[in-house]
Amino acid sequence: MAIRHYLQFRDLSREEYDYLFERTRVIKDKFKRYIPYQPLHDRTLAMVFEKASTRTRVSFEAGMYQMGGSVINLNTGDSQLGRAEPIEDMARVVSRMVDLVMIRTYEQTKLDTFAENSRVPVINGLTNEYHPCQILADIFTFIEQRGPIQGKTVAWIGDSNNMCNTWLQAAELLDFNVHVSTPPGYEVEPERAGLFGLTNYEEFTDPLEACRNADLVTTDVWTSMGFESENEERKRAFADWCVDVEMMRLAKPDALFMHCLPAHRGEEVEAEVIDGPWSVVWDEAENRLHVQKALMEFLLLGMVE
Ligand code: CP
Ligand code: NVA
Repeated sequence: MAIRHYLQFRDLSREEYDYLFERTRVIKDKFKRYIPYQPLHDRTLAMVFEKASTRTRVSFEAGMYQMGGSVINLNTGDSQLGRAEPIEDMARVVSRMVDLVMIRTYEQTKLDTFAENSRVPVINGLTNEYHPCQILADIFTFIEQRGPIQGKTVAWIGDSNNMCNTWLQAAELLDFNVHVSTPPGYEVEPERAGLFGLTNYEEFTDPLEACRNADLVTTDVWTSMGFESENEERKRAFADWCVDVEMMRLAKPDALFMHCLPAHRGEEVEAEVIDGPWSVVWDEAENRLHVQKALMEFLLLGMVE
């Protein structure tokens, strides 16, 4: 089987996403009913973290163990990566010893270089540009709660960051719309988002207007990992881009609220929203486990049913 990587959302086709979402449902159901499912019993996942993580680490590690495999966790500080070993060399070595690699790093080019030199599938666990595993979980969560996402409208409020870029790629591929509202100076860069065309998103200067009639309102931190030096400047620029009750009331009556977490109540979202009736953030976080189990199974074993 040819190696498949998951480096950005568009690395899978629409048909493969249909398969993955259905497969996630099956795998989640087994988990909820305590039915052991260990198709990866002789496989090893290496995880490389150059940035902090709670959800990504726990969901990949727990998921691999639940599927019968084992996990090796590497950080910049405790591997030779922190001592400037070339990423190409690390990829050549690690991929001779394990079956699958997940990487959280800074530039997407670094992940791409690792993948080019890897003998095994590589998964993007977040880069400055993209966070495809999170959007996989978010869309699965939407489908679970509200049915197909095709034709629906997602309102993205805040920074045009890795999450926003990935939503835009997903909209192109799965045919839904994104209303983006960012502060001036933080607009979407279509090339960085890796967009094929500009048909599925619209920019709004007013975040309230972006939320009007949306099926899903979502946001993320004002300052992503790696951009900490811009924190104070961003706090000033993003002050009006806080998802509040007024915005949720302008969205559809059954609109959902999502946030990839970690969240800062009182900054990008009001507590009344993230802890309120619209919010599905805990299901969204849990679903990282289930979608990634389906993804790891797909990358290692192909379509099994
Ligand atoms: N949402 C997400 O990726 O969380 P972590 O940074 O905790 O992994
Ligand atoms: N945009 C955030 C997501 C964290 C999960 C970051 O990159 O820090």
